[in-house]
Amino acid sequence: MSIAQNTETAARLRCIACGAPPDSAGQDFRCTACGDLLEFVFSGWISDSPAFDPAALKSLWLNRRTSRNPLDQSGVWRFRELLPHIPNPEEHVITLREGNTSLYRLPRCARATGVENLHAKHQGMNPTASFKDTGMTVAASSAHQQEFRWVACASTGNTSASMAAYAARGNMRSLVLIPDGKISWGKLSQSLDYGALTCQLRTDFDGCVRILNELVRQKPVYLLNSVNPYRIEGQKTAAIELIEQLAWEPPDHIIVPGGNLGNSSAIGKALLEMRELKLISRLPKLSIIQAKGANPFYRSVREFGGKKLEPMTADTLATAIRIGNPASWKKALRVLQATGGEVEEVSEVEIAAAKAEIGADGIGCEPASAVTLAGLKKLRRSGFVKSGEAVVLILTGHLLKDPDFTIKFHRGDLFAGTGDAAEAVQAKSLQHAPVVLDADLGAVIAAVDAAERNS
Ligand code: F0G
Repeated sequence: MSIAQNTETAARLRCIACGAPPDSAGQDFRCTACGDLLEFVFSGWISDSPAFDPAALKSLWLNRRTSRNPLDQSGVWRFRELLPHIPNPEEHVITLREGNTSLYRLPRCARATGVENLHAKHQGMNPTASFKDTGMTVAASSAHQQEFRWVACASTGNTSASMAAYAARGNMRSLVLIPDGKISWGKLSQSLDYGALTCQLRTDFDGCVRILNELVRQKPVYLLNSVNPYRIEGQKTAAIELIEQLAWEPPDHIIVPGGNLGNSSAIGKALLEMRELKLISRLPKLSIIQAKGANPFYRSVREFGGKKLEPMTADTLATAIRIGNPASWKKALRVLQATGGEVEEVSEVEIAAAKAEIGADGIGCEPASAVTLAGLKKLRRSGFVKSGEAVVLILTGHLLKDPDFTIKFHRGDLFAGTGDAAEAVQAKSLQHAPVVLDADLGAVIAAVDAAERNS
């Protein structure tokens, strides 16, 4: 597999463990010398080159917002100076105008957490309704430029939806491996519509990854999981766009969900690079939140000081982060330590309650995204986040990705008959079950009056 060299910024790949610069990356994007993950490094940035003058870059990126060029209209490629170069972008870049997502204030959640300056960056507002699109546009373009016919991923749902869409736009075939029965219909249906060959394997996400890693060694299939370093580069732009939206004044904290840990690695990489380029003068603390039933990274940090990660069999209703053996844990650990962030775990009920609280601010997200608010509450209680500090939650997926979860929660069915039923009583006040009535005006008025009395 050839490695793109960015002629302008000389992007090159390097192993995160042994530092080896591979002549060619394995099909599984692992270092051929030691087997660890690869990352892009950019030489020629830090210099006094006028092309990397912070003020000039900021104004260039801002001006592109009024451009009609598809690359400029993408919230990812608008920041292409900080991305690996794709030769002949007009021919090879596959873009759905991803990125460009909103930053919302969360006034009710702010009151509930005592953090007045609280925002959510909603990556679920991307074209396929999750943050995956920002990385997929870069990695799928690289596959296209290298003339791959097939691309593939293992997924808990969002990666597959995103990959299938970008493959379809780029006239490539896509192969999706997903755990049978453990992903939401919302996500599965996307892959079907976008024409992917969708295989539901009788295993979990980690089992799908194992099969895929074998497959790419035997077949000329381009791997689009987040071990693909092009994905990480594209996902960096969420952090760049976020800081731009805050007029280049970084918040004190950024909080992200942790699954396979590609996204936290990407956001952390962007923060470190922005500081290196003097686009920002201080680093926000990047904190990573996992579900209790899928917490291998939390345990790695808390129990083993990050020295090792023990894979586990993961289980959580937040199926997007139902991952027991996260590929990018070493990258995530590095950015956690470099930014001084914290790692937390939250319960199933805490996740469901936090999702409804974000919803009460008029913002819908999927369960995996809601771990951020649930985590913030714990970080407030531990004193790690102070009331006067500015906090941004990264919401990773759209509410409609998993409507089943939402409906069961509001009907009071989500935890019925489970070990969480007693704890779930606390979340009752957040439930808004649908009311079935006769088609009768009086009944509707009575329902409105009753709701008013209870509000
Ligand atoms: N939130 C959502 C909505 C996700 O879909 C994922 C991961 C994460 C958070 C965690 O991000 O893996 O970078 O730490 N979903 C993957 C998938 C793994 O296949 O769609 P991460």
